[in-house]
Amino acid sequence: MNTIKVAILGASGYTGAELIRILLNHKKVEIVELVANSNAGQKIEQLYPHLIHYNLPALKKVEEVDFTKIDAVFGCLPHTTSQETFSKLLSDPKNSHLKIFDLSADFRLEDPANYQKWYDHEHVAQNLQPQAVYGLTEIHRNKIKKANLIACPGCYPTSALLPLIPLLQNNLIEKNDIIIDSKSGTSGAGRSVKQGNLFCEVNESVKAYGIGKHRHIGEIEQELSKAANSDLEIDFTPHLLPINRGIISTIYAKINPQFSVADIENCLQTKYEDEAFVRVIAGEPNIKDVVGTNFCVMAVKKARTANKVIIVSVIDNLCKGASGQAVQNMNLVFGFDEKEGLELSPLFP
Ligand SMILES: NC(=O)c1ccc[n+]([C@@H]2O[C@H](COP(=O)([O-])OP(=O)(O)OC[C@H]3O[C@@H](n4cnc5c(N)ncnc54)[C@H](OP(=O)(O)O)[C@@H]3O)[C@@H](O)[C@H]2O)c1
Repeated sequence: MNTIKVAILGASGYTGAELIRILLNHKKVEIVELVANSNAGQKIEQLYPHLIHYNLPALKKVEEVDFTKIDAVFGCLPHTTSQETFSKLLSDPKNSHLKIFDLSADFRLEDPANYQKWYDHEHVAQNLQPQAVYGLTEIHRNKIKKANLIACPGCYPTSALLPLIPLLQNNLIEKNDIIIDSKSGTSGAGRSVKQGNLFCEVNESVKAYGIGKHRHIGEIEQELSKAANSDLEIDFTPHLLPINRGIISTIYAKINPQFSVADIENCLQTKYEDEAFVRVIAGEPNIKDVVGTNFCVMAVKKARTANKVIIVSVIDNLCKGASGQAVQNMNLVFGFDEKEGLELSPLFP
């Protein structure tokens, strides 16, 4: 295939802007439609002056777009809006050719009752849910390749699932003794104005939030239960960091009796040795080393208390945690090199 035509819904938000950054660098993609809501009618450079040099289309309302001319759609919309939007779009048979890469949580939970539980809202596109594939690339690559609707994982889940899934699949850790302590930069909450994200609220502080009830617990438990082949529960506490982008997750797990920390490290090294975007390092992961990239970098360390392991992983929430992983999935679906557009160097310093 030569080039494909892409529309970004929610282009005025942070993950939309990150998609534009990545796709401008992609040799096989033409960005033909940028869609917004309250910002429709504006030029993208009015919102993001750094994009003035690229002759990008103006922001439109979704109703103004002719999707018969589009190959792939990225959904960077709030949850529930995404279900409503794609439900309407796909109810028109003329749009059945579309490959959809949804960055919201709307199609990540396989059981609609689970969606209702974690998002406190009825799933309004239940007819589409069975065809959705959870888009954690390194784990579900073969299913993603054949899918039309890819539910790209959440940012915190990506950072926790990449280390934990291989360990549970190989029965190396105790399934009901997993603690995930995660910290994210404020872009994780999107661009819309929220009091809790104002400079004075976030700067020079770190706070925990959603303790024991954050919505991402639902998809983390879903994917870990599949890996362990039986239902499990985790403890997960997210924190807000006074930085723009990046996530660090520190994971504590109990090693099953016959195994060692070296077995854990070997398992992850083996699983990811041929992967372009996952690295298991000997040192100590630092958000700075992955910001602006599609990498997940992790390290395995022995805990002081008996039979426990500490795994630390870092990602860029907007890239591997959102738009980068969505493009990685698009590359798979369209048969492009999986790395196309994604060989991005870190934004350092
Ligand atoms: N930020 C992250 O790190 C991250 C990571 C993984 C997944 N996600 C998920 O990705 C999605 C987008 O996140 P984001 O951070 O980019 O959010 P954001 O910055 O708040 O952007 C939201 C976008 O959705 C549009 N929008 C809002 N309400 C709408 C409506 N009723 N109808 C149509 N469009 C509407 C907005 O348009 P206007 O600006 O024109 O109003 C904007 O373009 C969310 O579901 C989020 O959970 C985010």
